[in-house]
Amino acid sequence: MKISRVIAIAAILLYACTTEGQPLVVKADKPTAAIQPTMWGIFFEDINLAADGGLYAELVKNRSFEFASPLMGWTIQQASPGTGNILVTNRLETDSANPRYIRVTRNTAKGKFGLTNEGFRGMGIKQNEQYNFTVWAKSETGNIELHVQLVDSTGRALGESQPINISGNNWQQYKTSFTATATELKARMNVWFEGEGVADIDMLSLFPQHTWKQRPNGLRADLVQLLADMKPGFLRFPGGCIVEGRELATRYQWKKTVGPVEDRQVIVNRWNTEFAHRPTPDYFQSFGLGFFEYFQVAEDIGATPLPILNCGMACQFNSAEVVDTTQLDPYIQDALDLIEFANGDVSTKWGHLREVMGHPDPFNLKLLGIGNEQWGPQYVERYKIFTKAIKYKYPEIQLVNSVGPSPDDERFHYLNDTLRKLNADILDEHYYSSPSWFQNNANRYDDYDRNGPKIFAGEYAAQSVATVSPLNKNNWLCALSEAAFMTGLERNADIVQMASYAPLFAHVEGWQWTPDLIWFDNLNSFGTPNYYVQKLFANNKGDNVVAITSDNKTLKGSDSLYASAVTSTANEVILKIVNTSSRSISKQISIDTKRKLAAKATVTTLQSNDLNTVNSIESPKDISPLVSEAEIKSRQLNLVLHPYSFTVIHIKMQ
Ligand code: AHR
Repeated sequence: MKISRVIAIAAILLYACTTEGQPLVVKADKPTAAIQPTMWGIFFEDINLAADGGLYAELVKNRSFEFASPLMGWTIQQASPGTGNILVTNRLETDSANPRYIRVTRNTAKGKFGLTNEGFRGMGIKQNEQYNFTVWAKSETGNIELHVQLVDSTGRALGESQPINISGNNWQQYKTSFTATATELKARMNVWFEGEGVADIDMLSLFPQHTWKQRPNGLRADLVQLLADMKPGFLRFPGGCIVEGRELATRYQWKKTVGPVEDRQVIVNRWNTEFAHRPTPDYFQSFGLGFFEYFQVAEDIGATPLPILNCGMACQFNSAEVVDTTQLDPYIQDALDLIEFANGDVSTKWGHLREVMGHPDPFNLKLLGIGNEQWGPQYVERYKIFTKAIKYKYPEIQLVNSVGPSPDDERFHYLNDTLRKLNADILDEHYYSSPSWFQNNANRYDDYDRNGPKIFAGEYAAQSVATVSPLNKNNWLCALSEAAFMTGLERNADIVQMASYAPLFAHVEGWQWTPDLIWFDNLNSFGTPNYYVQKLFANNKGDNVVAITSDNKTLKGSDSLYASAVTSTANEVILKIVNTSSRSISKQISIDTKRKLAAKATVTTLQSNDLNTVNSIESPKDISPLVSEAEIKSRQLNLVLHPYSFTVIHIKMQ
């Protein structure tokens, strides 16, 4: 443990002899607003290799040869020219979702011939773990066998399968498993073809046996665990701009992401070419992580599912293409069918598919997003058509609606005014701004209309440099500023009913956008300071807001203090206090209640004297919670609020 952290713990444990200014008073018996179970959630988008190469545990890149360059990610290996050859073949007429396969020809049994897959910036392999390989294949002539081998960068073998004999000229899936003999961050997979003859090969896939809940076609367990640890109230998926596509042809279409994985059509990922400064030419979407898997993982981690659908508009930062309003029917049908997929009886078409995929029980969908970050009258036109159709059939579904990409520009004001007049259910506000914006906007919702639409703070993150700057860091200043802002969200939980940081995940070598909540490489992952802020809010959500004041005033920045307080049905009062100043502030806190309090409070602190502190793969916990205790006497406690600190105080009530 670093010396500064030891000092911090010691200091937290010390009682301040003298407190300064007015005490903080918590009205613990007077709830002012109910907090929704959905309050603190997760925003997932396939950006920064969040799905393929990240959460989705598939290790093979371009497993079905459907990238724009069919052999991208693959290298042909042969002992000498003529040992064999690979012909990329297309069967579009009979399989439009997965048209390409490779025809492997070996004219001689002599010499090595095969393919190497490079994985997603390599493959993360763990010693003694089992790996499951599958392939679709058929024999054309002769007798071809294949086996797979994992190797490190020097070619050293890290595990090898038994040979698979390809027999019969009908497509069938072959499976084999083997155990890795060493741990390697950047392994590669060789597929060796032996014998003489011709065989057709498709969907070469390698998964670790150990995935989240050990599911085949599963998710990376460490990454889901980080999400589960947050105890999120909702999971928004699949984005983000990815919902919209750069143009309509590459929009997200949920129906193409369900059913057997080999029938899910691969398309380009819109972040592939988005930023000239972070090009990612090998970024495609296999949709192995599709809508069924999103619903399933949401259920696993206790999060309400919140799918967002394309509303007939492509990204307005790109093509801004729209579907003519007379031709919106297929888009609306997608929305209606999604509700049936999630909630419908198994006797319905889409409910039946959910059952076939292994989940006969409904997913209990209650929320649905119409469009991502749209703006302008063209959105309002489409919003009206969608809302009418969905509410007619499913009046119980609450719709989440865009108010544009920014919290206070013309686009925002137009949509905010218009959608309020149209009685929209929930408005999805996005803020990517400076740390000071977050601190200055802790009061943003104090004067909002209490009777209008509810607010979803759907995407936010403090930007240490500027939005989309590759120099942005997940530093402590950003996280602390978000914590200050979040006290304002919590205080206004009667109208702010959901909030999520964005984006969620980033591969340390494969990212396009920074900052991000959780970073990972092929073997390791860590939460940023921002992650710990989110986690502390979500883990200490409470059920009712109560007032915390100083001199009868809300703490929203004066004297560098921000605070909110909640009580829970588990008989707790929980205080969240942010000190954005560079000095310690000693405060007396008085809990105004008729109930008896425990003798000690649990005090959890995130703190650093250096606002530039970040976490990293090498040092993942430089900013992470420290837990101590504070004595409570006569319903009062004295606390030192450390420089640049976020403190959560838990008090048990009888
Ligand atoms: O979170 C990254 C992007 O920011 C999202 O895709 C989009 O909705 C917003 O502009």
